[in-house]
Amino acid sequence: MNLLLKYKLPKNVIAHSRKVSRIAVKIADELVRNGFSVDLESVERGALLHDIGRSVTHGLEHGYFGGKILRKEGESEEVARIAERHVLGGISQDEAERMGLPAKDFIPETFEEKIVCYADKLSDRNKIGRIEKHLRRNAAFKRMIELVKEVDEMRTKVQELNVYAVIRDSRGRILVMKRREPRVWEFPGGGVEWGESPEEAVRREVLEETGLKIKGIKLLCTSSKVYKKGKVTKHSIYIVFEGRGEGKVKFGVEHSIAMWADLKKIRRLELGLNVEPIVDFLNVNK
Ligand SMILES: [Fe+2]
Repeated sequence: MNLLLKYKLPKNVIAHSRKVSRIAVKIADELVRNGFSVDLESVERGALLHDIGRSVTHGLEHGYFGGKILRKEGESEEVARIAERHVLGGISQDEAERMGLPAKDFIPETFEEKIVCYADKLSDRNKIGRIEKHLRRNAAFKRMIELVKEVDEMRTKVQELNVYAVIRDSRGRILVMKRREPRVWEFPGGGVEWGESPEEAVRREVLEETGLKIKGIKLLCTSSKVYKKGKVTKHSIYIVFEGRGEGKVKFGVEHSIAMWADLKKIRRLELGLNVEPIVDFLNVNK
């Protein structure tokens, strides 16, 4: 904030910078939750200071001048680059030369740079329309639309960590359960909760879903799939354990049937997406 005041930015630019910073942090948070690695501090600071070059000019060169000011003021290279690369969808070397700027690319590359660039465009929906009028066939405009699409897509990507348990009875048969929705067979298991170890998660899920206590727990294999679910693209990763079940099977609301079955029988069932590679693994490692 002090820097914005020091460089005497107009009130509307300060208000805009605060808004972009709020939006950018929200999106960065979202992406971190979706499994991307994003430096929240750079995003917040970079977004707040992205338009500082408007103290020199309101032309497209304001990004370049912003970077220059921020380096002089001792801000991090990450923050300076966010300012430098936020204009349109970034400025290419050719375009930079034509504008009389140093001959290099000013195109957002890191997640942090892309997020601030995206948040800036998102902060004013009319802005995209206004720019479109002038630059419909311009490469920079196309890049901007591509960037908006790319970050839009990242926002719908969700990564999930789950556990499954391959539980055997005294005859070596494995416990499988049929989900109510979608109606596919799987092993007992579910999502790892915040702060929980995968072992704790598998013990809890098995108890919740089957009423069994899992004993002699061992790591078996992993399974990972990317698939569409409504508007979201999910990447679900399963850590698979094996063990013995103690007690009597009492299953809950998520499943309609449970049974002990040998591998031959399991291979003939309609299996969940992440279950298939585990059954293949069990088959090879009999
Ligand atoms: Fe700007």
